[in-house]
Amino acid sequence: MKKFSIVIAGGGSTFTPGIVMMLLENVDRFPIRTLKLYDNDGERQAVLGEALEILLKEQAPEIDFSYTTDPKEAFTDVDFCMAHIRVGKYAMREQDEKIPLKYGIVGQETCGPGGIAYGMRSITGMMEIIDYMEEYSPDAWMLNYSNPAAIVAEACRVMRPNAKVLNICDMPVGTLRRMSQIIGKTPAELEVRYFGLNHFGWWTSVKDIATGHEYLDEIKEYVAENGYLTQVEVDTQHMDESWQATHKKAKDLLAIEPRFLPNTYLKYYFYPDYEVAHSNPEFTRANEVMAGREKEVFTAAKEIIEKGTAENSNFHIDSHASFIVDLARAIAFNTHERMLLIVENNGAIANFDDDAMVEVPCIVGSDGPEPLAQGKIPQFERALMLQQVTAEKMVVEAYIEGSYQKLWQALCLSKIVPNAAVAKNLLDDLIIANKGFWPELN
Ligand code: NAD
Ligand code: G6P
Ligand code: MN
Repeated sequence: MKKFSIVIAGGGSTFTPGIVMMLLENVDRFPIRTLKLYDNDGERQAVLGEALEILLKEQAPEIDFSYTTDPKEAFTDVDFCMAHIRVGKYAMREQDEKIPLKYGIVGQETCGPGGIAYGMRSITGMMEIIDYMEEYSPDAWMLNYSNPAAIVAEACRVMRPNAKVLNICDMPVGTLRRMSQIIGKTPAELEVRYFGLNHFGWWTSVKDIATGHEYLDEIKEYVAENGYLTQVEVDTQHMDESWQATHKKAKDLLAIEPRFLPNTYLKYYFYPDYEVAHSNPEFTRANEVMAGREKEVFTAAKEIIEKGTAENSNFHIDSHASFIVDLARAIAFNTHERMLLIVENNGAIANFDDDAMVEVPCIVGSDGPEPLAQGKIPQFERALMLQQVTAEKMVVEAYIEGSYQKLWQALCLSKIVPNAAVAKNLLDDLIIANKGFWPELN
């Protein structure tokens, strides 16, 4: 079987060890000859790089492993770039969350003003790595899960329309795992229908592949009581206390639209006041992650380096992330795997704009994704999605044109922002906080 060369962009990410461990677990399905880490923060990456070097020497010496901050070295001779960068790192995530909260508005990594601010930063970093990939390995594919995926995907569509970039999110994967738990199945036994935008969508069907049985009603019955909170530990991710509250809140999202199963992220749009009331403006999710996942991962890495061995290490397989292998395999081996991806609509949702980046099931093969028709969607969801997707499009326009006016309008369009005056004050604060990260706005 062919062996592949991979570069992980954002090598210093808290998710890097979990993904590397998951790749190792899957080498029989997806053989690897070269694995490289690339990051523009050499110091941060070196901690994980050094630890993973020790681990790989012990567990997979046949893989040629290295880490670098040099784009040419990183992107030359690669088949896949797995991208999870965070432009501005946790210091800026903290700002994205805390600045809106000062105005009593939801502070979230990907939704509302925080997501817009993050989007304006991410576009630069994403275009940079796409260009490196195209220059040094023109045949390579990028599997991107850098956030905010909706804005990043729209920026790719407009700014690099021919680039081989697939944008994917793990929330539907994680939630399907919970659904399968609820009905006593495995995700592999199920096939879904889904429509929406990234972090803004609904499942319309969850069927047993073998029997054709529709589970939607059974799952809804459970979710109406418990949300997606399940009794069993089902994930290596989304387990912190704040995530448990999020899974639970799906119950109130189902109440609004009882026909479909909601994406958990809809809570920020439908219950913003509740979210703000349950937020601590001094200690947001960024703080929780810095004190939790980031600390754990970097401590585990330092331990490996100190001991000089990865035996009994605290690096854990990010098992839920096996969808990244499924996606790479689909491209590499033309498997026609059915997966949810963020793609240009072009009729997949019949009564929605062709040029909107939507999240729908796709069949993925060597030529990329083929979106599956999801038919017409109801007026309620369509209106919400149009408002949201227009905000996302206007962020990208604002970025390209350097337009203050358009970014203000984008903030006004966000359902989370109550009025234009607040939007303007917020924008002025965000501009100051993001100095050096955003293009100049006029
Ligand atoms: P992190 O800050 O720990 O890691 C991100 C790394 O990217 C940092 O080491 C940083 O130095 C690096 N980086 C920033 N700009 C860069 C650039 N221009 N070039 C190269 N490297 C750059 O963040 P994290 O919490 O591990 O998350 C990483 C990313 O993955 C985030 O965007 C996050 O939102 C995303 N994520 C997405 C999903 C999904 O479902 N799509 C799931 C989990 C995480
Ligand atoms: C989910 C989302 C991702 C997001 C992540 C945040 O997996 O799909 O897009 O990045 O949650 O998780 P965190 O633990 O960093 O808050
Ligand atoms: Mn996501």
